[in-house]
Amino acid sequence: MTDTTSRPASPAETATQDFRPVLHYTAEKTWLNDPNGLVWYQGLYHLFYQSNPFANVWGNMSWGHATSADLVHWTEQPVAIACDEEEDIFSGSIVVDHGNTSGFGTVEHPALVAIYTSAFKKGSAYEGTQAQSLAFSTDGGMTWSKYQGNPVLARGSAHFRDPKVFRFEGAAGSYWVMVAVEAQHQQVVLYRSANLKDWEYLSTFGPSNAAGGEWECPDLFPLPLDGNPDSVKWVLVVNINPGAVAGGSGGQYFVGEFDGVRFTPDPDSLVPAGAGGAPDLENCLWLDWGRDYYAAVSFSNVPGNRRIMIGWMNNWDYANSLPTSPWRSGMSLAREVQLATVDGLPRLVQRPVLPVNAGKPTLDVENVELGDSPIQLPDAEPGSAQLIEAEIVPGTAGTVAFRLLAASDGSTGTVLSFDAGTSLLTLDRQSSGYSSFHTKFASAESAPVKLDDGVLTLRIVVDRCSVEVFAQGGRVVLTDLVFPVAGSVGAQLRAADGGTALVRKLTIAALS
Ligand code: FRU
Repeated sequence: MTDTTSRPASPAETATQDFRPVLHYTAEKTWLNDPNGLVWYQGLYHLFYQSNPFANVWGNMSWGHATSADLVHWTEQPVAIACDEEEDIFSGSIVVDHGNTSGFGTVEHPALVAIYTSAFKKGSAYEGTQAQSLAFSTDGGMTWSKYQGNPVLARGSAHFRDPKVFRFEGAAGSYWVMVAVEAQHQQVVLYRSANLKDWEYLSTFGPSNAAGGEWECPDLFPLPLDGNPDSVKWVLVVNINPGAVAGGSGGQYFVGEFDGVRFTPDPDSLVPAGAGGAPDLENCLWLDWGRDYYAAVSFSNVPGNRRIMIGWMNNWDYANSLPTSPWRSGMSLAREVQLATVDGLPRLVQRPVLPVNAGKPTLDVENVELGDSPIQLPDAEPGSAQLIEAEIVPGTAGTVAFRLLAASDGSTGTVLSFDAGTSLLTLDRQSSGYSSFHTKFASAESAPVKLDDGVLTLRIVVDRCSVEVFAQGGRVVLTDLVFPVAGSVGAQLRAADGGTALVRKLTIAALS
């Protein structure tokens, strides 16, 4: 599925322009990876993240911090939890300790408690292991103190990490549950605690489905099926690297039941082994079929029980080589996830969180016949992202294709195409611009898409260095980074391979 052909970098192909996106969070001057400690508290969304405060490659892992009132416009804050001689601060989560179970705050003014992985350094007491530790904030997440009794949960393992903690309330009781990974065993391990400090083992899940790489950054949360509060299912998210469907890093999920002790996947979530002994990756459940949505986890404490996720918009295959400076890599858009019945089965649907005041459409047309000669669409405007919403009946056309962030001479562009014969939606960045910075970057990713009454429904967000595609109301998502050559702002739509398609509706708006 992934094409990794590449050429050596030539000086002429060294990217010089600033690819910094408009709607996606990037750190001003430094490297970032996984989102950590996503939490809503007193009107602000907090995005903590794996940060190297000193450089724009991975290292010196600490928790960086940004805040936002709307999940779209972020303000960078000082480093929240810094590495020291003893430990790097790896991924984890934050809870609002409403009942003051930890004693770090008060019932009136609950502490925010971070549960993170201590990656212990050479010479430290726990050298060579990863274990779970606490830090707390009593000023709404702005400053943090490490707990003196760290680590709070150790297994003597070198690959035990990425704790996601949530409050469980059910027949089994009311307590904190942690999901973490034994990364190299492809296992999610579950623990419970009354006070966030003392943890008791509950159960283990995995390996299951995609297990050809390390399991990282798990998440477990309940969602009502089709919005029905009497029909709640649990979703277990497991990120995997490498071994995702598009190659390298990606996120899979399972739908099932959680009784407070054990996660039991629904049989229809599990994929039997294929001919090679491993399950066919195409049959597993993926959060995203593109190359650049990893370490995705959800916010805690969001009002109205909304479930909102953010992923790292990157892939370990080439993450340290992206041609940007001084910053390197960003987050995906926030996505609201829901559980809906799709072809009779409970599946995630995802919608991007966009600016509330979308700009006036730069294009708004209905019922346009589409043939072989391309329709020119409005250029991507500098300083804004582009939202393209389309309903297309492929009709007799073999292929319907958008060309995005295209150079004016037609030499480069990113192609999003739907093949009516195979029913595959493909995002192709092989000629998107700069790609020779890493042999694994040039690629084309495909996802199976089932039309609704013959209609292809697309929501595409183009933001300078990324294309995120939400198809069929968010049942299928594809996210890819791209690095177009300067001035590549053109967009076109055409039907190919003979025949005609009908564009039932097409709107384009600038977002900022
Ligand atoms: C995932 C990951 C996590 C780890 C962190 C280190 O991208 O490898 O498992 O905690 O990054 O930065």
